[in-house]
Amino acid sequence: MTALVALILLASPPGYPDENRVQLKEGPARDLVLGRCAACHSQDYIPMNSPFLDRKGWEAEVNKMVKVFGAPMQPDEMAKIVDYLATNYGKN
Ligand code: HEC
Repeated sequence: MTALVALILLASPPGYPDENRVQLKEGPARDLVLGRCAACHSQDYIPMNSPFLDRKGWEAEVNKMVKVFGAPMQPDEMAKIVDYLATNYGKN
C-alpha cells in the first residue's frame, strides 16, 4: 500500500494546465481545492460525486484522501475544502 501511494505520487504531475481551472465552481477555496485535490486524479471526481455526498460524506471523503491515500493537507485546509465541497457540490 505504501509503495502504491508512492507510485501514485511519483506519477502525478504537480499541477494541471489552466484549462482545468475553469471547471470547478467559483469560490474562495477553489484554488486550494484544485491544488490539493487534482494532483492524483482528475478534478472531475468532485462533480461526479456531488449527487451522492452531503457535508458529512465530503468530510469522510476528504479524510479518506488524507488518511488512506496520503494526500498532503493541513487541518485548516481540510476544513476550507470540506466547506467548499459541501457548499458547491453537496447533495441537497
Ligand atoms: C495522494 C493522492 C490523492 C489526493 C491528493 C486526493 N485523492 Fe481522491 N482519490 C485518490 C485515490 C487513489 C482514489 C481511488 C482510486 C481512484 O478511483 O482513482 C481517489 C478517489 C477519490 C474519489 C472517488 C470516490 C472514492 O472514494 O474512491 C473522490 C470523490 C475523491 N478522490 C476526492 C478527492 C478530493 C475532494 C481531494 C482533495 C481533498 C482528493 N480526492 C485528493 C487519491 C488522492
